[in-house]
Amino acid sequence: MDELSRRKALLSGGALSALGALGFTAPAHASRTWTWSAQGSVAGSGAGVDPRWMWDEEADPVVEGLFERGEVSRVNEILSAWTKNGQPLPDGLPADLRDFIEHARQVPAWTDFDKLGQAYDFNERRGLYLGVLYGMASGMMSTVIPKEARAVYHSYGGANMKDRIAKTAKLGYDIGTRNAYSPDGEMAVTCVKTRLTHAGVRHLLPQSPHWNAAAPEDIPISQADIMVTWHSLATTVRQKLTEWEVPVAPEDSAAYLHSWQVTGHMLGVSDEYIPASWEEANNQAAQVLTPILAPTPEGVNLADILLDLGAPIDGALLSRPVLGAFTRYTLGDQIADWLSIPREPVWSPLLETFWRPFIIARETGLNFPGSQETYFLFDEFLRKAVLIYLNDGKPINIEIPTTNRPS
Ligand code: HEM
Repeated sequence: MDELSRRKALLSGGALSALGALGFTAPAHASRTWTWSAQGSVAGSGAGVDPRWMWDEEADPVVEGLFERGEVSRVNEILSAWTKNGQPLPDGLPADLRDFIEHARQVPAWTDFDKLGQAYDFNERRGLYLGVLYGMASGMMSTVIPKEARAVYHSYGGANMKDRIAKTAKLGYDIGTRNAYSPDGEMAVTCVKTRLTHAGVRHLLPQSPHWNAAAPEDIPISQADIMVTWHSLATTVRQKLTEWEVPVAPEDSAAYLHSWQVTGHMLGVSDEYIPASWEEANNQAAQVLTPILAPTPEGVNLADILLDLGAPIDGALLSRPVLGAFTRYTLGDQIADWLSIPREPVWSPLLETFWRPFIIARETGLNFPGSQETYFLFDEFLRKAVLIYLNDGKPINIEIPTTNRPS
């Protein structure tokens, strides 16, 4: 059996996630093992299987079946009408997919809706910082997470980053809505569709000669990889708020964590890998995120595209230097250098000088010289970012990709 057939057999048998349990642990060249204890997870205990060898044992075989039966496009079309968490599924879906979605759309038993309500309040009050951080810290950081950068670049969406970001921003937007996981909200739908998309990527990328040549793995998007990205979002944002001395009440902090814990579960991560506290999250991130950050040709290219996203609006005259300076300011010199982002002569010193006082002024209601101008600059910048992310006003629908990046 050749390599691709072996992978396909594993996928169609739904056996991917059992690999770790069967002792197919890290390959000999792997330099680290999973040492984070499940005692610090929302589950409180676990089987101790290395999540680098866990994928999505529920979604993967179902999506594999859709590809085998040539049903992906038809299913995407039908699912475009499914937008609300509590909405009945449209008719015409294959039975196995319907069963999967009915199960996957349920929030975990440990969901605390009071905490989710608090998280919404927090999102509203801290929207400016969260928006800047999701874009400038998490978004740009994704380009120096090597496995993610390669997967995104060589998958279909890698050729149209604006569309991809609009879809990803939908998740970032939905998680901050009041009714995110309530029947009239959209976040459960977004997560389930993302799970299906990820399963599609697991089917498609192994068929890409470009991805195979670049990636040191057989199957992308393991549960460990999802947690790495989870940390680039939730944990990084939480850490930056502390670093920037943005006051965050304990109940806000716990609520914000909870919204991301539920989201981790809804994206198909086992509860035994989802941290129960920020302390545990910081520990896990120190093990799985910080050490793996590195430049790749794919990531450098994606970062370059991200910096140019404002070009249709301002010819990149203002947006590119501001985005670049923000990236250097939030992620530091090393990452900015990796991504060939120059230090900006105007914007970098401006941020270094005014961003922290701007936060203090905002938090205390104080005015200081330049605060109005700085506020306007940041406000204007965010307004533009929203314009870009809103996908030119078109409704955003997450779909299972049908091909890899055409190249
Ligand atoms: C697609 C979110 C982890 C690679 C998507 C989409 C969302 C999303 C919302 C749909 C957007 C689209 O179709 O373009 C997330 C979140 C993650 C996560 C919230 C973790 C918390 C990962 C990881 C990888 C990855 C770890 C790779 C190692 C991809 C790829 C696509 C995708 C390749 C499809 C792009 C395409 O072909 O269109 N993800 N993702 N994601 N994600 Fe993730």
